[in-house]
Amino acid sequence: GNTTMKQPFLWGGAISANQTEGNYLADGKGPSNFDQLPLDDRRLKPVYLDDPNNIFNTEEADYHPSHNGIDFYHTYADDIALLEELGVNSFRFSISWPRLFATGEETTANPAGLAYYHDLFDRLKQAHIEPIVTLSHFELPLQLVTNYGGWASRHTMDMYVRYAEFVMNEFKDDVRYWIPFNEMNMIMHIPFIGGGLTFTKQDNMLQKEYQAAHHQLLANAHVVAIGKRINPDFQFGCMLAAGRTYPYTPNPKDVWAANLSDRTALLFSDVQVRGHYPAYFDALCRKNHFTIDMAPGDLDLLAQNTVDFVSFSYYSSACSAADTDALDTIATNGFTTLKNPYLENTNSVWQVDPLGLRITLNQLYDRYEKPMFIVENGIGTTDDQLVDGHVHDPYRIKYLSDHFDQMQLAQEEDGIPLIGYMMWGIIDLVSVSEGKMSKRYGVIYVDRDDHGQGSNQRIRKDSYYWYQDYLTQHINQG
Ligand code: BG6
Repeated sequence: GNTTMKQPFLWGGAISANQTEGNYLADGKGPSNFDQLPLDDRRLKPVYLDDPNNIFNTEEADYHPSHNGIDFYHTYADDIALLEELGVNSFRFSISWPRLFATGEETTANPAGLAYYHDLFDRLKQAHIEPIVTLSHFELPLQLVTNYGGWASRHTMDMYVRYAEFVMNEFKDDVRYWIPFNEMNMIMHIPFIGGGLTFTKQDNMLQKEYQAAHHQLLANAHVVAIGKRINPDFQFGCMLAAGRTYPYTPNPKDVWAANLSDRTALLFSDVQVRGHYPAYFDALCRKNHFTIDMAPGDLDLLAQNTVDFVSFSYYSSACSAADTDALDTIATNGFTTLKNPYLENTNSVWQVDPLGLRITLNQLYDRYEKPMFIVENGIGTTDDQLVDGHVHDPYRIKYLSDHFDQMQLAQEEDGIPLIGYMMWGIIDLVSVSEGKMSKRYGVIYVDRDDHGQGSNQRIRKDSYYWYQDYLTQHINQG
């Protein structure tokens, strides 16, 4: 029989350091790869060092949104009070590696950064909000990028493991749920953001991405190994940018195209959950004329240190076909996909597919049979109906309500064990893909525009009151 007490369902919201803290050089913080991203369409493109128009050659006029964020570094106490009032019992955020280790190579942590995170944890504890901590959310010290090529180098892995070990020791009494990397599979789509990777025209891009991926997968295993020694109760999760890829038609060729697209992403959770690379990976390397540098013991380390739960982000499904030439495409989370004629994107930059959440939950649970954790889900759109101090966002209420319904069906009818739900961008923040504040996700509005202008005041949107009401009815009921 099960004698352990059932954990309450974790209802919360999520943010990241790089999209909120701002103060990018304050109090001893060093710049990160993310701080190098300007507010223009170079954000998602691979960085070629031999291209004069790369993001290292910025003009005085180029605005870098993460330098200001939403000033969370100073507003966290008030923001946590708003979360407490909202009624969430958990909150996912990331720790900024370069706020603690400015260049990544220091041997002692920056005391001001440390004091900041200690106070953040203390305030969450006072508000009875459980922290879910991401150790690397699209962020590494810029100096590891410029001096070592980011995650292409094993040295970056060593420095990350040192940082992670420090953080896990320092906050061992504050945190139970750890996510070593945000959306590791995004390194294949946005290699500079996901891994601080830079290229020259001669590089085999795929080789570099998979080499960096190997280092992140190893780093993840190291963190699990070290963390379980620090506190055996620690729970670790992979974090997959998920969303099932549908075939555009029942043509077997389209079905196969969809399978191929999904397995590129699933490789990452496969290694983190099962402890080994999928069978096709050797052939993939051979076909693309590269090998991955591995050290003796690497594969054992991966095999012995797998994760406890499967966490993922879900914004939408994707769609693939064998022949895409005549088909419409649309942007989705970090890449472009085929426009699905059965889905809409009214009031949303990306297509909306609530049933896709249930489909994705089942896809991942069938594959891994581990507790599942939705750590990002939400709708990014402009909220311009600021009327008499109110933000009316019925589309966000509908998005949340429709996704909650599918999540409930996945639990009740499909039997999927779910740890919790973190709504993404619970407080408006800087968008990764667009760099804009005006692509808003929050139930809490932040009065700041795309160029960082505004009062920075927080305003409860209609969706805030809706979520608050929902939580009152559903929290502590499993
Ligand atoms: C996920 C990231 O990819 O999607 C978040 O983990 C990001 O950091 C979110 O903000 C939404 O994407 P975007 O581009 O709208 O900010």
